[in-house]
Amino acid sequence: MSDPSPVSLEPLYELSDEQLDSRIQKAKATLGDSCVILGHHYQREEVYKYADFTGDSLKLARLASQRPDAKVIVFCGVHFMAEVADILSTPEQVAVLPDMAAGCSMADMADLPSVEAAWQAIGEVIDVENMVTPVTYVNSMADLKGFCGDHGGTVCTSSNAKKILAWAFEQREKVLFFPDQHLGRNSAVAMGVELDEMVLWKPTEPNGGLTPQQIKDAKVILWDGFCSVHQMFQPAHIDHFRKQIPGIQITVHPESSYEVCIKADHLGSTEQIQSAVRESPSGSKWAIGTELNLVNRLKHEMPDKEIHFLCPTICMCSTMFRIDTQHLCWTLENLVAGNIVNPISVPPAVATSAKKALDRMLSVM
Ligand code: 13P
Ligand code: SF4
Repeated sequence: MSDPSPVSLEPLYELSDEQLDSRIQKAKATLGDSCVILGHHYQREEVYKYADFTGDSLKLARLASQRPDAKVIVFCGVHFMAEVADILSTPEQVAVLPDMAAGCSMADMADLPSVEAAWQAIGEVIDVENMVTPVTYVNSMADLKGFCGDHGGTVCTSSNAKKILAWAFEQREKVLFFPDQHLGRNSAVAMGVELDEMVLWKPTEPNGGLTPQQIKDAKVILWDGFCSVHQMFQPAHIDHFRKQIPGIQITVHPESSYEVCIKADHLGSTEQIQSAVRESPSGSKWAIGTELNLVNRLKHEMPDKEIHFLCPTICMCSTMFRIDTQHLCWTLENLVAGNIVNPISVPPAVATSAKKALDRMLSVM
């Protein structure tokens, strides 16, 4: 019989790393298959090592829908990822985020009232319902996925954005892409859309700062959102490495700017970046433009390759970093005690609409 008294978080900060490790291992062993821990590639090493499965957003979304035996999905990632796990898992399963402060600043750059206002404003210029497919990056709140579900749109991740845009253009002639302007622009360029066929919607300006003619002419309307981590990478960083290290290959995440992405040798999601570096021959030289924890892990894993972080300053996802071993221990020990802490529960009506959009994405893949 489990002990129902809640486990407190604060005392866990008094423990040594060894004590925490042994308590996490014990709780994990007690929970067995009833609990699955998913870890995003940006997660700090101390937490990442406890994940049963690791991956990029798409892989983790799929895994969340493929583990019906686990009653609890502990998501070591950020809030939108745990929401996706909740939406795609069975009603009996619970998704848990060890620290509720682990959000995504990019996801916060678009909210439902602003997107609805944009949709309405665009609708005053063109027949929005018949001419525009809304596509949200998975880094967004569940109600925006719901908006896409209800308006014939879908979701994309950094690993499938090009395919999803192709699908979106099969449905209607224009795309409204939010919240990340960079992923939208980079993916559209990769499928042949010209830069001057895209416009930037600024949600704080009347009509997004656009004239009716600009809206009529645009093929892609990009939301003015970005990732504060990936905006740090600059074209000059690539020039520097190419000059200093002949033969170096540059791989960057498509949340980086267009100017950075066109100079890179390879673009990819966190999983795709990882695979490209792993599959390269021994002695390969790489500069990687994505979050520091992932780059350091690859450096450590492959001492036979020369791996550099693309930016001279530290670029870390500070929200992902909120999840520490203390929060993981606290979450697991409370589960052992029969308490579910920090459940992520998307309201059923939102979840139903969001699932339509996510299922459309998964069916295209
Ligand atoms: P991936 O889907 O590539 O894991 O990216 C998620 C993310 O938030 C990158 O900043
Ligand atoms: Fe969000 Fe950027 Fe962190 Fe990715 S790296 S989770 S986009 S803030």
